[in-house]
Amino acid sequence: MATYKLLLLAGDGIGPEVMTEVVKVADWMAKAGIASFESENGLVGGAAYDAHGKAISEGDMKLAMESDAVIFGAVGGPKWDAVPYDVRPEAGLLRLRKDLGLFANLRPAICYPALADASSLKREIVEGLDIMIVRELTGGVYFGEPKEIIDLGNGQKRGIDTQVYDTYEIERIGRVAFELARKRGNKVTSSEKRNVMKSGVLWHEVTNALHKREYPDVQLDHMLADALGMQLVRWPKQFDVIVTDNLFGDMLSDVASMLTGSLGMLPSASLGEADKNGKRKAMYEPVHGSAPDIAGQGLANPIAMIASFGMALRYSFNLGEAADMLDKAIANVLASGLRTADIKGTAATTVSTTQMGDAILAELQKIK
Ligand code: IPM
Ligand code: MG
Repeated sequence: MATYKLLLLAGDGIGPEVMTEVVKVADWMAKAGIASFESENGLVGGAAYDAHGKAISEGDMKLAMESDAVIFGAVGGPKWDAVPYDVRPEAGLLRLRKDLGLFANLRPAICYPALADASSLKREIVEGLDIMIVRELTGGVYFGEPKEIIDLGNGQKRGIDTQVYDTYEIERIGRVAFELARKRGNKVTSSEKRNVMKSGVLWHEVTNALHKREYPDVQLDHMLADALGMQLVRWPKQFDVIVTDNLFGDMLSDVASMLTGSLGMLPSASLGEADKNGKRKAMYEPVHGSAPDIAGQGLANPIAMIASFGMALRYSFNLGEAADMLDKAIANVLASGLRTADIKGTAATTVSTTQMGDAILAELQKIK
């Protein structure tokens, strides 16, 4: 049985609560003889700021570099609203993404049949939905320089962010999207705003050239990012794999989350470049944030976090069968009618974070 090194960064808000549930799943996997895990705990976000005055310590960055996978909860909250920009909670997350080179962010949006009524959209629009958003994660306006506020000296200030993409960045994220599409519905929709942005013009050009050169067997469409936002709520099942930049991917994946019933359902994987042995640095995190308003009350939905661990099984540990089993356990628990508050719909009763975690474990035990 292989052993994998995990760094657990629970973070802030509901992060620690959902992390507790994922640890139970990892322990179960170990007991079931599927894989064993050596885990370390670290601090990130506001929790790290409180302890070290930084959004992540050098020691924890080192552990992240050495791990087979970082399992990340959530960061941020009103408590840290006034801390300096460089050490705000989100800076820890962004540093991990950048320093680990996690350029490919996979955000699958799957609507479990049992949850079709929890979506704000009609059942026929979302039922059976299975799309994959591939978001570029280490470039674009998130990291482009200059990024500053300058004083114009006339009582005015100027805020500047820079949207910038190089050919290689567009090619490598494009490859991830085309490769995934080949294993799914064989269709990629590339999205930018080439009607107003030069980076969009290049994105479109490079994606087309890559398609022609390396992936002519995959269907490629292009859609402007605003139109794609509209189409996502109009008829989301037209999509298979969507590939887009860092900022559009951030927004479109939040939109997509509501197609699944709740932001509490959406997992993600962030992957780096494969090395000689095919190994990638990786981080797995739920798309939802720290939800400070419900933190500490046992209300959080642990499914996005647990499904993120499922993505770790699939993409980092090559344990596709275990990942399928975990997905099935989640689907069965939902089908049985158990709901956390965020996906309550018309359910009579809701369960706590812990009860949802326990139900998934019990289901795993049943189907293993
Ligand atoms: C996400 C989040 C982050 C982002 C924040 C917390 C910095 O919204 O992962 O989608 O904007 O990337
Ligand atoms: Mg976001």
